Amino acid sequence: MHIDDEARVHSVRRALREAGRIAVLTGAGISAESGIPTFRGTNGLWRKYRPEELASPSAFRRDPGLVWEWYDWRRGLVADTEPNPGHFALARLERSAADFTLITQNVDGLHDRAGSQNILKLHGDIWQVLCTGCGRRSRNTRVPLPELPPHCSCGGLLRPDIVWFGESLPQDVLQAAWSTSEAADVFMVIGTSALVQPAASLPLVAKESNACLIEINMEETALSPHADISLHGAAGELLPLLIPF
Ligand code: APR
Repeated sequence: MHIDDEARVHSVRRALREAGRIAVLTGAGISAESGIPTFRGTNGLWRKYRPEELASPSAFRRDPGLVWEWYDWRRGLVADTEPNPGHFALARLERSAADFTLITQNVDGLHDRAGSQNILKLHGDIWQVLCTGCGRRSRNTRVPLPELPPHCSCGGLLRPDIVWFGESLPQDVLQAAWSTSEAADVFMVIGTSALVQPAASLPLVAKESNACLIEINMEETALSPHADISLHGAAGELLPLLIPF
């Protein structure tokens, strides 16, 4: 490891040890080493599929079967993966920190499976379904789904309980994420291109509230100029170094 990176690793370790309140924001990059494609990288999902055709209310109204085919495929992909050392390192950090909140844009459930507890899921959960008829939310981990599109016991059409393009985030979750960011002493942003709002604003809210902003990504992002410490590398390799305890 380059000597500068060595110094950065020590600075991050010290910041995490001394922090009272730690907040972490993750994106698709933390699940990349588990084998789940990101959205905007070279093999990103949005390179192959058009989000407005699959991840939007109008797409679902137009062809719920097609949208569910795509989510059934993504659920199968996720079901075959495991959390990686990056997910486990964050669960360890939560157990050792005085005050820890994980804010994630990911819907894959790998943070839950790695043992993280205090998770704010900004964009929903691919293992949860919502009935468009009676409004009931329920957990559904069937892979593959026996019926596409699936229906609720009330007869209503089920949809993935995921925030689609053009939809607003659940207000209670967003409010909690906002106040967590304002209160954080250390804010780590890991594996996100920081292009999608309002998630992309949270690191800046933390920074404006005098948090130490630490970014972990494979490359520069729009957030990099605002970071106090930027570490370039794979989250699954860097996080175990930063959180050795
Ligand atoms: N370690 C760390 N960072 C990584 C790794 C890795 N192993 N692999 C990729 N990255 C970084 C990429 O450099 C990129 O900055 O992860 C980021 C992934 O960016 P996106 O694919 O845009 O994913 P994300 O930022 O989570 O997208 C946000 O957009 O499509 C919507 O709702 C969807 O939640 C998603 C939101």
